[in-house]
Amino acid sequence: MSRLDTQVAIIGAGPAGLVLSHLLGRAGIEAVVLEDRSREYVEQRVRAGVLEQGTVDLLDDLGLAGRLHREGLVHRGVLLGFDGRRHRIPLSDLTGGRAITIYGQQEVVKDLIAARLAAGGPIQFEVEDVELAGLDSTRPVVRYRAGGAAHELHCDLVAGCDGSHGVSRRSIPPAALTVYEREFPFAWLGILAQVAPSTDELIYARHERGFALHSLRSPEVSRLYIQVAPDEDLAAWPDDRVWDELRARLAVDGWTLAEGPVLEKSIAVHRSVVVEPMQHGRLFLAGDAAHIVPPTGAKGLNLAVADVRALAQGIAAWYRTGDTAGLDGYTARCLRRVWRVQEFSTSMSTLLHRLPGADGFDERLARAELDWICRSEAAARSLAENYVGLPFDD
Ligand code: FAD
Ligand code: DHB
Repeated sequence: MSRLDTQVAIIGAGPAGLVLSHLLGRAGIEAVVLEDRSREYVEQRVRAGVLEQGTVDLLDDLGLAGRLHREGLVHRGVLLGFDGRRHRIPLSDLTGGRAITIYGQQEVVKDLIAARLAAGGPIQFEVEDVELAGLDSTRPVVRYRAGGAAHELHCDLVAGCDGSHGVSRRSIPPAALTVYEREFPFAWLGILAQVAPSTDELIYARHERGFALHSLRSPEVSRLYIQVAPDEDLAAWPDDRVWDELRARLAVDGWTLAEGPVLEKSIAVHRSVVVEPMQHGRLFLAGDAAHIVPPTGAKGLNLAVADVRALAQGIAAWYRTGDTAGLDGYTARCLRRVWRVQEFSTSMSTLLHRLPGADGFDERLARAELDWICRSEAAARSLAENYVGLPFDD
């Protein structure tokens, strides 16, 4: 058994864990990242693609946004499709110039890993059997196996950034946590396609056949989603069927959807989860380990970044002055944003999807809301403020 000592043990090399490692590194705090997958796997995993203004600003501030600025696509508006037409929400005009940037999550992850390793920050990939112990003590221990051998990482604090299926949340006694959950009666089938996007800005479309979203990754690669049943079998969706649905749901007169080879296809269920509190003893949960939001608001990654920003500030203040206020207040600080984002993501999901069992009344309510967003600048501004992301509260 080998023993290693550090200040902060970070479980998980997703956006939350990696951004945290950089924030701590900048504050002169030692951290070790433990990740159960391989580097190749986490760098190829296709997930989110919309970065809020605040996320981009934070990566900029850390000196990690070079490629993001070269290759990312800045969007100043977003399109809502319904009733065979499209309405543009001018995001930047409504939010004092804020914008979103399209840059794949796996590209963010690649940039963060490369920079962290280049700075000599340890990331241990392919660890197994991670266990957290001594969370109520002043020196927790993370036990794990790597390369066939047993290891112990002794630390002051553990950051649980290991997503919704990780070990961190499970290490908190169930009686110490309240879990708020909601399942949505739909999922998204997403494709990545080798074809120039047929739109300059994202299209979120409500249609009687179900929701569709046209997003993009680059001038040559499109990312598209359609609403399907939560138990849908991917095998029932050959590429042609996916394109047929996309064409039908995104249709407006005089517009054609360009098709191309499908590079990746997967189904993601929609659910909401929030655990309260987001901390237990010396363990602090961040990102998907603490909460999941349905993807309609494009918030999961951004919320993870907001959490670790707050956590890094609390940790840095504690090491600098011994003041525990930032750490003690971590949960309260995060949950305010988390529940705002849950509400926004849930409203967007309900507004844009076709709910099983929905009747003409529901249909008319949704139309009335969409019509109101088109007519009222205040309603459009509310959507825009939430979509580009709320500024960080310091
Ligand atoms: P993750 O990115 O999940 O990172 C957690 C890391 O911990 C992973 O690398 C994992 O391998 C590692 N890990 C897990 N268990 C252990 C362990 N025991 N020990 C060590 N390491 C461990 N959001 C959107 O906004 N739009 C989308 O289209 C979208 N699509 C998604 C599709 C899928 C399939 C999933 C799962 C999520 C999607 N999300 C989407 C959500 C978004 O990607 C997440 O909110 C974001 O990844 C959160 O970052 P994170 O760092 O908290 O967690
Ligand atoms: C993408 C994902 C989202 O969840 C969303 O709301 C918009 C775009 C994307 O993967 O590009």
